[in-house]
Amino acid sequence: MSDEHILSERPEIHDGVLVLRFNRPEKKNAITRTMYQRLTEELLSANRDESIRAVAILGTPGVFSAGNDMADFIAFAMGGSLGTEVLDFLAALSTMEKPLVSGVDGLAIGIGTTIHLHCDMTFASPRSLFKTPFVDLALVPEAASSLLGPLTMGHQRAFAMFAAGEGFTAEEARDAGLIWKVVAETEVEHATLACATALAAKPPQALKIARDLIRQGRPDVAARISEEARWFSAQLKSEEAMQAFQTFMARKR
Ligand code: COA
Repeated sequence: MSDEHILSERPEIHDGVLVLRFNRPEKKNAITRTMYQRLTEELLSANRDESIRAVAILGTPGVFSAGNDMADFIAFAMGGSLGTEVLDFLAALSTMEKPLVSGVDGLAIGIGTTIHLHCDMTFASPRSLFKTPFVDLALVPEAASSLLGPLTMGHQRAFAMFAAGEGFTAEEARDAGLIWKVVAETEVEHATLACATALAAKPPQALKIARDLIRQGRPDVAARISEEARWFSAQLKSEEAMQAFQTFMARKR
């Protein structure tokens, strides 16, 4: 698996913003272990790099990400290893020390949706769809979405999204507080980068203090990520999950 599935653009060309892009459109930007690893390395080095003042995360036209690569789920269900890449990524994402801005145009499935619970400002086009079919796959919420979901949007909307697997339009996601603004699909990248650049230009110390204060109300995210991961791994090995994966694999036959 090569590195071109995550593209990174240095802060020198984006006025202090590190831009990370999912770039595996032929697989709907499904995220492999290698891609998680690369994202983790980028986020951790962004924390250490003083020239990076904000991070922007983008997908490709029509798709942000279809979530975790199903092949990795199936490999684990068949007795392989899941590795530490996903959990390493979630740890880096949830403890990120610099502002995170994301831009969605199109599909945002699974972690393609839950990632935004950890972002500070998210822009999405009207054709975007936010959906977490965890339970339909016989899986459970991840990325602390079982905790941050109800905190962000209240019980009923969180249940609809993270348990019932209802898809949310961009407007519904905005009304639920998952994202900041709906912008035209031609404007997603521009709005995302303009927002990140504006944050990067602010006094960094004051912005960090403000961000830390605002995020302090979050209870123990790391503990919830671990608890969800235990259930998630157990469910991946379940008979009901195997049936769901087989249905996915057989859908085009
Ligand atoms: N993991 C691995 N591959 C994936 C994928 C995923 N999560 N999502 C899509 N792909 C692949 C498909 O297998 C297909 O590959 P192929 O052309 O080699 O067969 C390619 O991406 C295009 O997907 P396709 O299903 O043909 O596109 P679509 O527009 O009909 O449907 C989705 C798009 C995203 C709705 C559908 O692919 C889907 O439901 N994917 C699974 C999403 C999911 O459940 N993610 C995990 C959440 S926990």
